[in-house]
Amino acid sequence: MNRLFEKLLSDILNICRSNTVKDKKLDSICKILMDKVPHYDWVGFYFARVEEKMLILETFAGEPTEHIKIHYGNGICGQSAETEKMFVIDDISKETNYLCCSINVKSEIVIPIFKNNKFIAELDIDSYSIAPFTDDDKIFLEIVCEYVAKIL
Ligand code: SME
Repeated sequence: MNRLFEKLLSDILNICRSNTVKDKKLDSICKILMDKVPHYDWVGFYFARVEEKMLILETFAGEPTEHIKIHYGNGICGQSAETEKMFVIDDISKETNYLCCSINVKSEIVIPIFKNNKFIAELDIDSYSIAPFTDDDKIFLEIVCEYVAKIL
């Protein structure tokens, strides 16, 4: 894993272990990812309302979005919730089931978060570049989500 991601994992672990409330931790994690990784242009956490099959945006860094509530199955986030799988979209212009937030966004990655083997939330990242997400991003973000799961 590259040095930036190694450093960020250590910083994010420190945020998770810090003596502050959960919402502030999630907020700081969004901000640090958005500020430090050049190809992360919007970073947010959606939380699952399992009975309603709905995702709710709880915290984010970047431009405000109209997609505060997303039904399972809708868009990339909803498909990730329904299948409980990571989605990496290199070029969103080729997607038919996509919810547009900004004309600047070119690609997206969504990582599901599990607690006690149950899907409870997801990390959603948009990029203004085409195909920026490498295997390093996937491994890095999966570890971030494991850290986050422990504070939820
Ligand atoms: N593009 C997402 C919607 C959420 S925004 O990216 C913030 C989707 O298709 O699910």
